[in-house]
Amino acid sequence: MSSALRIWHPFSNSVLDPAPIRVTKAEGVFLYTADGRKIIDAISSWWVNLHGHANPRIGAAIAEQARKLEHVILAGFTHEAAEELAVRLRKWVPRELTHLFFSDDGSTAVEVALKLAVQHFQNLSRPEKREIVALEHGYHGDTAGAMSVSDESPFTKPFESMRYPVCRVYSAYCYRCPVGLKRETCHIECVKQLEQLLEERAGQIAAVIVEPLLQGAGGMIVHPVEFLQKVRALCTRHDVFLIADEVLTGFGRTGKMFACDAANVTPDLMCISKGITGGFLTMGVTLCSDRVESAFRSENRMHSFYHGHSYTGNALACAAANANLQIFEDEPVFDRIRTIARIHAERLAQIRDLRQVGDTRQIGAIGALEFRVEDPGYLSSLRPKLYDFFLERSVLLRPLGNVVYVLPPYVIETEQLHRVYDVITEAIETVL
Ligand SMILES: Cc1ncc(COP(=O)(O)O)c(C=O)c1O
Repeated sequence: MSSALRIWHPFSNSVLDPAPIRVTKAEGVFLYTADGRKIIDAISSWWVNLHGHANPRIGAAIAEQARKLEHVILAGFTHEAAEELAVRLRKWVPRELTHLFFSDDGSTAVEVALKLAVQHFQNLSRPEKREIVALEHGYHGDTAGAMSVSDESPFTKPFESMRYPVCRVYSAYCYRCPVGLKRETCHIECVKQLEQLLEERAGQIAAVIVEPLLQGAGGMIVHPVEFLQKVRALCTRHDVFLIADEVLTGFGRTGKMFACDAANVTPDLMCISKGITGGFLTMGVTLCSDRVESAFRSENRMHSFYHGHSYTGNALACAAANANLQIFEDEPVFDRIRTIARIHAERLAQIRDLRQVGDTRQIGAIGALEFRVEDPGYLSSLRPKLYDFFLERSVLLRPLGNVVYVLPPYVIETEQLHRVYDVITEAIETVL
């Protein structure tokens, strides 16, 4: 195939990384490869897959939609699949979120939330209220705005000049507490930095953006529920919007449909993507309260939200999302999540005290281990060794540096999940 273009793979180094593995088909938790392997996808293919690969119900819904309407411009037009999704989502999202805006993926859902927050105050003739506050260790995507609110990392390093300034505050990273306390005895003192910032500068701040309860790409950092609750209370007190980036945490990953539910918190804006189509098609959605939207309800055309992507509200993606939500209605999805959570808890407890393990973390269907190494962080030398080790044993796990996490599709069976942990345990004994 020398005449073909060379596919440039994401988050990959063409010199240092092994050649990509060709997948010929997938079913349930398994990826079948051209060289005859059957690999357990223990990370849901970048956290998108919920009900198994090639789920027949979602596949059939897309096929049926494709025969009727594949796509139509959403400016000036609408369609049944989008309207059905608006009804279905209503049931699951916090009641105060009354509007939804479609985009393409997690990053664009975040871009939309940030722009809505900023323009809201602009439309109300408060243009000075435009700054964004974000957390240390946060990750919100790779487009320029999402990258700006993400914390500095190897992903953002070459693009410092493209990142707009953001006020950065402590995350509740209890294992490496930013204020040197212990979770057992602390009172979430790390949030005081945000409190002080808002006391001083709320007049200039439009929004605080957080990954609720779980910071994903920053290292699968699980926050105490109280941290999110305190952030919410501070935003309310200082008239600053709270943006919940539920791109990873949405659709059951934390044990509730959305992480905000687990904390009993309602954000002003919420970003969802990844699992929304069950892992079939790309789609982003930004939800907002009536208050956020009200500033755009105006006879002044300049108050319109001039933002949209060609594939906004794509009918095939909407059909996939509707089928995904129907599966939540019909199948014991939360029982499956509880079973996964139980196995995470059981296996992590067995590993926790090993000398190589610094911390274990779990929330709902996500389990993680942080290893003690001399070079922690995304570029830890441990990472490629572990990645290869797992793949040689037909398990797909993509460590975030020295953090290994298990985030499987909900249909994973008990023995398959135990197999994943057996391989991790073997890695601790041999690689570390
Ligand atoms: C919390 C969070 N926000 C946003 C994104 C960006 O999503 P996408 O990769 O679909 O652009 C991600 C992706 O991992 C994420 O975890």
